[in-house]
Amino acid sequence: MCGIVGYVGRQSAVDILLEGLTNLEYRGYDSAGIAVNVEGLVELYKAEGKLQNLKDVVAQKRSHIEKSTIGIGHIRWATHGAPTTNNAHPHSCNCGKVAVVHNGIIENYKELREKLEKNGCTFRSQTDTETVAHLVASKYAQVKDLTEAVRLATKELEGAYALCVIHQDVKNTIVATRRNAPLLVGIGEGEYYLASDVPAIIQHTKKAMYINDNEIVTLTPDTMNYIDASKNVLQPKIEMLPWEPVALSKMGYKHFMLKEIHEQPDVVRNVLSGKLRAKDENIVLDEVTLDKETLKNLNRIQIVACGTSLHAAMIGKYIIEDFCGIAVDVEPSSEYIYRKTITDKNTLVIGVSQSGETADTITAVRQAKNNGSHILIVTNRPDSTMAREADSLIPVNAGIEVSVAATKSYMAQVISFYLLAIYMAEAKSGVGVDSLTSSDANWLNELKHELIVLPQKIEEVLAHKEDIQACAKKFSNSKDFIFIARGINFPTALEGALKLKEISYINATGYTAGELKHGPIAMLDESMPVLSVLMQGKVYEKILSNSEEAKARNARMIALTNSSDPKLNDLFEAIIRIPESNELISPILAIVPLQLLAYYIAEFLGKDVDQPRNLAKSVTVE
Ligand code: M6R
Repeated sequence: MCGIVGYVGRQSAVDILLEGLTNLEYRGYDSAGIAVNVEGLVELYKAEGKLQNLKDVVAQKRSHIEKSTIGIGHIRWATHGAPTTNNAHPHSCNCGKVAVVHNGIIENYKELREKLEKNGCTFRSQTDTETVAHLVASKYAQVKDLTEAVRLATKELEGAYALCVIHQDVKNTIVATRRNAPLLVGIGEGEYYLASDVPAIIQHTKKAMYINDNEIVTLTPDTMNYIDASKNVLQPKIEMLPWEPVALSKMGYKHFMLKEIHEQPDVVRNVLSGKLRAKDENIVLDEVTLDKETLKNLNRIQIVACGTSLHAAMIGKYIIEDFCGIAVDVEPSSEYIYRKTITDKNTLVIGVSQSGETADTITAVRQAKNNGSHILIVTNRPDSTMAREADSLIPVNAGIEVSVAATKSYMAQVISFYLLAIYMAEAKSGVGVDSLTSSDANWLNELKHELIVLPQKIEEVLAHKEDIQACAKKFSNSKDFIFIARGINFPTALEGALKLKEISYINATGYTAGELKHGPIAMLDESMPVLSVLMQGKVYEKILSNSEEAKARNARMIALTNSSDPKLNDLFEAIIRIPESNELISPILAIVPLQLLAYYIAEFLGKDVDQPRNLAKSVTVE
C-alpha cells in the first residue's frame, strides 16, 4: 500500500525516482509525485491517476528537473482524502521548503492539524501526511537541525509511518524514519537510496540496511548518520538483498500475473528444496523451533491471515487436523484482533502473509505473542515486519510477486502447509505424543511422493492453457459466477472466486456445495455459470449430486475435474481436466486452472490485470 523511493548522490535523481516508483506501482497506483531540489529550491511534481500521468508532467520540464541529484518519490493508495493531485505526496509546509513522503496512517492527525492551523499553518490537502510536513517545518524553525526536527516531530505522531523528508535549507540531505511501516536504505558508491520495498532499488544496489522502528537515518551522498529515538548512535547492519533484478521483468509474458502463474512448477521445486529430500526422510524445517515441550503440550492452533493467504490457511487447517489430530481455527486477522481470543502458551499461532506487512495480521500475531503463544510466520518475505515477530519461520520462497492478484505465493503457502503438517505429524511422533503406525508412515510417504512429482503435473495443467482460454472466452460475458466445492477444495472455490472478482470485477462467490440448496440456489438460472470443483475422493459423488441440482435450475455448468468419467459430458457444458492425484493433494493442482480462468476472462474484458482497480499489493493499514 503506497510506495516510497528516495535518492541522494551524484547522479540525476529523476529517473531513479520514476523507475523506483514504476517498480512499486503494484503497491498502489491512484496518484504519484516526486520532490527534487533544483538549484537550491525544493520543487514538487504530482499527478493523479496512474504513474504515467506523473511521467508526462515530468517530461514537460525534464531538462530542468534532471539537474537535481536528490529527491523523494511516492506512489499512493488513498486512505485520507480522495486520489487527487492535491492529496498526492510529497506534501509541503507553508514556506514550501519541506517535502515529505509517507506510508502508513497518522492516527492523531486531526488534533495535530487543529493545533498547527491555530499556529498559522495553511493546509492544502485532506491527508494525514500534510501534518507531518508542517510539524517538521515548525520543529526545524526551532532547532535548525533536520534530523532533530524529524525526531521531535515523530514524538508527537501516533500511528504507523515510514517517512522521508528533505528541506531546502539542508542541502543534499534526506532524513528517514519509520514505525510499523517498512523502510530500507540501499547503499551505493557515493550515493544512498531509500525504499519502502526492495523492487524500488534492486536495479541499483543489493547492499542494504533495514531501518527498525523509531530509528532515524540521515543520508548525504557520502555519509549515513544512524540513531535511535534517544539519539544513541547505532551501527548499521548491512546485508545483501536476496533478489535479482530479473524478477521484475515480465520475461515476454503479457502480464506479471501470467508469468507468475507459469512460475509455479519452479516455485514448488524451490519450496520443497532442502525441506523434502526423499519420501522416506523426515521433513526438515530449519527455522521452526517448536521444542519437545511445546509440541507435547500443544492444545490448539490458530491461524490468522487475510485474502488469498486466508484461503491457504484454510487448507492448512484441513491437513493439520487430518495429519496431526490437533484442533485448528482459522480466522481473518481483522476479526481476530477485535474479540477475546482464547490463547495461551500451549496455543501455536500461525500468521500467513505473502508480504509480511499486512497490518491486521501483524496486529493479530502481536496480540497472540503478548498472550505467550509461540508465533510461527509463513511468509514470502523473511525480511518483513511480520517475520521479525516470529518464534518460528517458514519462508515460502516464491520469489517476488508483482501482480496484485496473488498466485504463486498462494501455491508456495499451500505447499508450505503440507510440509508443516507432515513435519508436525513426524515431530509429534518423535516426542511420543502420537506414534505413527507403519500404515500412517507409509501414507505420509505416499503424500511426500505426490508432492515431489507435483511440478510435472502443474506443467501438464499449464500445457493445456488453451482449453482454459477457450472456456474463459465462452463465459467472459457473465455478470455473476458461482464456484462450488466441498471438503479440502472448499478453499479452492473461495480462491477461484476471489481471483475472478478481483481482476475481472465479475461478482463471483464460492460456496460449499452442500450449502447451495440452503439459499444460493435461488440465484440460479440460465445466465448463471456454476463451476464445480469435482475431485475424485470422498466427496466426489456428493458434489456431483449438487451439480445435478444446479443443472436442474438451468445453471450453466462447468466442471473442474480429475475424473475421466464420460458421463460428465452430459451434465457439464464445459470441462476443465487436470491430472489425477490424491484427493488431499488435489487443491494444489485445482487452483492453477482457476487462476488461468480468471486471468483469461479479465484479459478478454480488457481489464488492467496486474493492477486491478481499488486494490494494492500489500495492505499496511487496518
Ligand atoms: O500480503 P498478504 O498475503 O498478507 O496479503 C493478504 C491479502 O491482502 C492478499 O492476499 C489479497 O487478497 C490479494 N490481492 C489476493 O490476490
